[in-house]
Amino acid sequence: MVVPESQDKMYYPPDDLQRDAHVPDLNSYLAQYRKSLENPEAFWKEVASEFFWKKPATGPMLQYNFDVTKGNIYVKFMEGAKTNICYNVLDRHVREKDLYEKVAYYWEGNSPDHHVTITYRQLLSQVCRCANVLKRMGVKKGDRVSIYLPMIPELVYTMLACARIGAVHSIVFAGFSSDSLCERIIDAQSSVLVTADGVYRGEKLINLKLIVDEALEKCREKASSSINKCLVVRHHLRTKSGTASNKLQTPWDSDCDVWWDEAMKDAPEECEPEWMDAEDPLFILYTSGSTGKPKGVLHSVAGYLLYTALTFKCVFDHRHDDVYWCTADIGWITGHSYITYGPLANGATSVLFEGIPIHPHVGRFWEIIQKYRVTKFYTAPTAIRLLMKYGREPLQKYDLSSLRILGTVGEPINPEAWQWYHEAVGQGRCPIVDTFWQTETGGHVLTPLPAATPLKPGSATFPFFGVEPSVLNEHGEELEGEAEGYLVFRRPWPGLMRTVYRDQERFENTYFKKFPGFYVTGDGCRRDKDGYYWITGRIDDMINVSGHLMSTAEVEAALTQHPAVAESAVVSRPHKVKGECLYCFVTLKDGMEFSHALVQGLKTLVREKIGPITTPDFIQNAPALPKTRSGKIMRRILRQIARNENDLGDLSTLADPKVVEVLFSQRCEAA
Ligand code: WTA
Repeated sequence: MVVPESQDKMYYPPDDLQRDAHVPDLNSYLAQYRKSLENPEAFWKEVASEFFWKKPATGPMLQYNFDVTKGNIYVKFMEGAKTNICYNVLDRHVREKDLYEKVAYYWEGNSPDHHVTITYRQLLSQVCRCANVLKRMGVKKGDRVSIYLPMIPELVYTMLACARIGAVHSIVFAGFSSDSLCERIIDAQSSVLVTADGVYRGEKLINLKLIVDEALEKCREKASSSINKCLVVRHHLRTKSGTASNKLQTPWDSDCDVWWDEAMKDAPEECEPEWMDAEDPLFILYTSGSTGKPKGVLHSVAGYLLYTALTFKCVFDHRHDDVYWCTADIGWITGHSYITYGPLANGATSVLFEGIPIHPHVGRFWEIIQKYRVTKFYTAPTAIRLLMKYGREPLQKYDLSSLRILGTVGEPINPEAWQWYHEAVGQGRCPIVDTFWQTETGGHVLTPLPAATPLKPGSATFPFFGVEPSVLNEHGEELEGEAEGYLVFRRPWPGLMRTVYRDQERFENTYFKKFPGFYVTGDGCRRDKDGYYWITGRIDDMINVSGHLMSTAEVEAALTQHPAVAESAVVSRPHKVKGECLYCFVTLKDGMEFSHALVQGLKTLVREKIGPITTPDFIQNAPALPKTRSGKIMRRILRQIARNENDLGDLSTLADPKVVEVLFSQRCEAA
């Protein structure tokens, strides 16, 4: 990597940020980066020394095999050490650092009238009580607990309570359908499920307990019910939105269901942490897989702690008096790493927001930044594009002068959105950290450091400490200098996933088989002449809608469950706000009629099977799909039809080229 000399417009770190930053300039980044690769042992020992270890590591800091031709893939960090991540993110601050009364979270509800402040002391006490409740329900070290909660403090309490007693949490985003929840409960074989009665998302009331009961019923139908107890937070009721017109019917099974508040009432405030091996599992988080079945990405205790803590500290240049806000949902990895573990490990004060950006008005984000004097703000390009639509006026009503650093995650950020974020939100003075990473990577892997890295809009810039990227061509050859190809990593860092839960083979096949010796991200990238990395998007059959990855296979499987559908193929089409959206081709069974009602029915079906975030934007009738002679659907052509790109290139491998003309003539213009 070289110091940039290119023609691209560069944005340099502001002087005041550089004065006392953790990584104050490019040379300091380069020196630490070099050390992290040349002497990882010393580098990670130093990072580990800030944390509490019940027992120190006995072997080397990092051991691994990344080459499938040499045996099983494994990564081990600090083998032999014993610790507890909950102790490190809570007790350590309360006991050793006097952060007793420091605010851990400002919880801000869906309605601006609902808000609560939670200090580190209060957080520790709630977590311990919840840990005791879980224990009373029979949860032991190694057991799985599924969590299906909205963005409320109990979500943080529950995940940390699991970590405290050594249970493995499996959080399922509370926008997923009962089918998706059921599938994830069955895979994890959880014994306890934690949920809430209901929640408002914007204007819409969602009956979570009803969805949970449907999911449990489906588990029972598959003879796979592992859940013994369901702990239910009285959330909708306590927010007093439950007036006569919007009261929820909360279905109740008194053998299984327990109200959270009743269980917590007499639970003790003390709970000795379970001392865990460094490599014990911490959590499972499901992410879409290209076969359609979600993968349970497994992260382990010590490596994840160190990696999320260090990335948070450096990438957001954490200061003791910061108020940090990440707008993600904890149901995704961004929330796990950068709402819960990373910020708490640093003793940070965060905003925990239940609502959506445009409720009750389009200035809600800016209002919250003003209200809490937010200094570091982390959101997704899709949210930025949504808010851009309303222009600058909603921003001008609020004081955003507290902001120092802005961040984005989830998908490549387009130049217009970057400029708007920088000018309208950051008022031209805040660096934007465009953080590239994945559920699998645990934390940021390509990212600017705000005081050190000159920015190029749209580039995730350089690797974080300990991360060694490479760009490969189709044949697996490493490309030097300026290049475009597959983004891979040559060695692990502490926060990398350890396996796919109960499916090591799938882990190896998905990430390590294609190019032996490398972890394959599934993303394409370009490295420019200054050594900057630019993510060019997924190269597998995955689609990124509003920053959420979904597999085309999963959506196709849902569509073909409809009795009228014979076959389907799903591709992406660019979307102004969501980045990409779903464009579906369906071939109907003989005698079936394509109609508006059918389109609506199919949209509803996909919503119900997977969740509202996967609602297709376009559904086109496809009398036939373009296939190769061997019967493989040519998605490239479907993508071009969806995007109205006329130059289709070589169609000679198609069994019947006429199919394409028909599809073109019937393409959907508007959703
Ligand atoms: C995409 C989210 C470009 C990428 C943390 C990756 C990005 C997938 C960026 C992982 C970024 C994430 N620039 N693309 N800054 N961040 N992606 O597992 O395709 O939900 O592989 O993790 O999102 O999505 P996941």
